[in-house]
Amino acid sequence: MAQSECVIEINGLQTRFGNQVIHRDVNLCVYRGEILTLIGGSGSGKTTLMRQMLGLEQPYGGTVRIFGETRNNANRNSLKKNIRGRTGVLFQQGALFSALTVFDNVALPMRELHTLTESIIRELVMIKLKMVAIGSEHAGKMPSALSGGMIKRVALARALALDPELLFLDEPTAGLDPELSEGFVELILGLRKELNLTIVMVTHDLDTLMSLSDRIAVLADQRVITAGTLDQVYRFPHPFVVSFFKNMQHKTRPMNHWEQTWKTVPTR
Ligand SMILES: Nc1ncnc2c1ncn2[C@@H]1O[C@H](COP(=O)(O)OP(=O)(O)OP(=O)(O)O)[C@@H](O)[C@H]1O
Ligand SMILES: [Mg+2]
Repeated sequence: MAQSECVIEINGLQTRFGNQVIHRDVNLCVYRGEILTLIGGSGSGKTTLMRQMLGLEQPYGGTVRIFGETRNNANRNSLKKNIRGRTGVLFQQGALFSALTVFDNVALPMRELHTLTESIIRELVMIKLKMVAIGSEHAGKMPSALSGGMIKRVALARALALDPELLFLDEPTAGLDPELSEGFVELILGLRKELNLTIVMVTHDLDTLMSLSDRIAVLADQRVITAGTLDQVYRFPHPFVVSFFKNMQHKTRPMNHWEQTWKTVPTR
């Protein structure tokens, strides 16, 4: 496959809810195999953009192509099925069904296919749980009996249930302490390599963003104002970008020559 292939291609996308304009002119390509991180203020329309990519929300204008197909009236149902089988989602809210056990949560997308026997499903669920380092002793538990980090991992196992090639992660590390968050990031990196995934992620966590992103797209003013590598994006002159990255300098940026000189000048 060519490196420049867009798994998702968005052109001139407009989204409205009633009179509220969420996206005015969104243009974006998600390349195969990359981890693309979407950032933007709260309410800027990141989750809605993911839902547009998944075909769960209807564009008011413009086009969203996924796997090379644009959704239209003729292919709506077949494309919906196609998207469902080839994508996995870790939703921002309601990561798991609270009335179902860990096992049943992960089994759900498999059962909905109506093609797999229960014994195959059992085997597959155990493989998925193992992938996210959840022991089989937890399979019969209800979500309320799990820690926050475990819930995220089980939700990830469910997102991986149908062996997706495209994975959507909406705030995957929100609510996790730094150590758990780091563990989750390691897990994603390992799975990405192993499963050849393309990932679209939303996060406001700088550490998660810096460890995972190949590229970053910034949603502001109802558009993607810039998309590129961390190095390219953090220099973009926009108030949201400046305020988002203002803490980054303390984290990674090497000191430049003048700062180093300054540091070594003995104070009197
Ligand atoms: N189904 C809906 N009906 C009406 N308005 C909606 C709907 N879904 C989202 N919105 C509105 O669209 C805007 C964008 O919402 P969205 O959830 O996409 O933001 P977000 O960037 O994901 O924010 P956050 O960072 O807080 O998760 C918000 O003003 C929200 O109220
Ligand atoms: Mg959101």
